[in-house]
Amino acid sequence: MRMESKIILIVTFFIASWQVHGWNDNDYFNNNYNRWHNQILSNDSISELKRLGEEIRHVVNISTNKTNYPCDSYYDYICGEHILINSVLGSMPRINDLVIILNALKYDDRSFDSKQKLINFFNSCSKVKSVDDCHVESFENFRPLYGYIISRKFLSQADVSPLIDVLESFIKRAKLEGYFSNHQNLGKLANLANNLRKPANLFSTTTLDNIYTKLQIFPSSYNHNIKNLEKYNRLYKNQSAFENYWKSALDFTIYLYQSRNKPRSYFYPTLNAHLWMTLFNNTVRYHEGRTYKDLADCFKLPSHLNNLEEARNLAVIYYKSFKFAWEEYQEWFNNGFSVVYGARATDIYDRENQILERYHLSNKHLFFIFYAQNFCFFGKDMAENIFYQGLKQSIDFNTIYLCSVGHTMNPTVKC
Ligand SMILES: *[C@@H]1O[C@H](CO)[C@@H](O)[C@H](O)[C@H]1NC(C)=O
Ligand SMILES: *[C@@H]1O[C@H](CO)[C@@H](O)[C@H](O)[C@H]1NC(C)=O
Ligand SMILES: *[C@@H]1O[C@H](CO)[C@@H](O)[C@H](O)[C@H]1NC(C)=O
Ligand SMILES: *[C@@H]1O[C@H](CO)[C@@H](O)[C@H](O)[C@H]1NC(C)=O
Ligand SMILES: *[C@@H]1O[C@H](CO)[C@@H](O)[C@H](O)[C@H]1NC(C)=O
Repeated sequence: MRMESKIILIVTFFIASWQVHGWNDNDYFNNNYNRWHNQILSNDSISELKRLGEEIRHVVNISTNKTNYPCDSYYDYICGEHILINSVLGSMPRINDLVIILNALKYDDRSFDSKQKLINFFNSCSKVKSVDDCHVESFENFRPLYGYIISRKFLSQADVSPLIDVLESFIKRAKLEGYFSNHQNLGKLANLANNLRKPANLFSTTTLDNIYTKLQIFPSSYNHNIKNLEKYNRLYKNQSAFENYWKSALDFTIYLYQSRNKPRSYFYPTLNAHLWMTLFNNTVRYHEGRTYKDLADCFKLPSHLNNLEEARNLAVIYYKSFKFAWEEYQEWFNNGFSVVYGARATDIYDRENQILERYHLSNKHLFFIFYAQNFCFFGKDMAENIFYQGLKQSIDFNTIYLCSVGHTMNPTVKC
């Protein structure tokens, strides 16, 4: 791919205004705050941390080059083997999860039209393709149904609380930055945070049936079905209702599914970094031109990138986004209070680190790894020169990985 077109493929992140009809039921929420009153971490969170530890150990172990690896090329270290420990917001769950989700939908007691269409499609597919392919195609074509069953079957209050908390503190923090106090995204996010308290209300069977009402699916003709779906998806994905409502509802529902039991060191780099990006995307380009120009100069991008205005902009936008997300996380573990377990954030942070220590990891490693993995898709050149500027300039990063000055990830000049 050519550099220019690659750059255009910027991680898109879209926040829409949700109009989910009202409910107001805070008791349900509050009753669950203290479920793990005596326990700092739930057993599920502990298992998830261990799983992450194992997975990261595996990714790093099979990397080829080991000497000073993270400092020489953090991209090779984290992305080299093309194994994503986590997916970015809105991306597809893993196959195992797709199987679990589809089964939950099949065996759910409600039956309705669009659900039957999905099942028929899957059956027609499995006659001609591998089961894995059919799961992927079913997901891609019927995502709203996956959103429906996830919100109905897989999310508990404990799963949604961290995200709501993270969103609400993000909004508070962004409002303190003069530039952003009236940014339209903040109002939309506040609305979103509120609606997430009852994710099961987001997808009704009637709405789902309406979306698919004109779609014809035959139990045994995969080829016909695929043609119908292509046409159908072109139509309904073009509608602004899809962009405005479904896309973000789905992205967040799937994100909630993927983020269940994850530590906060997961939320900030996978979500907040993108949220900051949507804000800085404007100011960097259109407002504080000169200051940002100095910053871009200071990064000393290689000339093939430095000549592209877009590359310089992105380097600054993501530098700021990383920095703000990192500050937010630090603020949380230094002062915060966790709504989920009713424990102090510091205690949660320490307990998580204790578990991670077995894998020679800490929450800080997790933060940097998850941040870096957002950009594996862009390739080494762009990841290290553009998106990892924040890491390169971070004292914490270089302390954690013991990078001496002069290594790729610890440049001599700091900006
Ligand atoms: C960032 O700004 C550019 C230029 O205005 C725009 O094309 C792009 O869609 C924006 N990206 C996001 C994620 O908001
Ligand atoms: C969590 O695990 C511990 C030790 O394995 C066990 O004693 C405890 O009952 C578990 N708690 C819950 C809520 O399952
Ligand atoms: C690391 O990878 C090698 C093979 O590449 C394997 O033999 C070894 O067991 C792995 N170690 C760990 C800790 O996973
Ligand atoms: C290992 O690292 C060296 C220097 O950093 C590099 O030249 C080489 O291509 C790397 N090897 C692989 C297989 O990535
Ligand atoms: C959908 O949008 C794309 C690009 O915006 C356009 O090329 C295409 O013709 C549209 N399709 C329909 C069915 O409106």
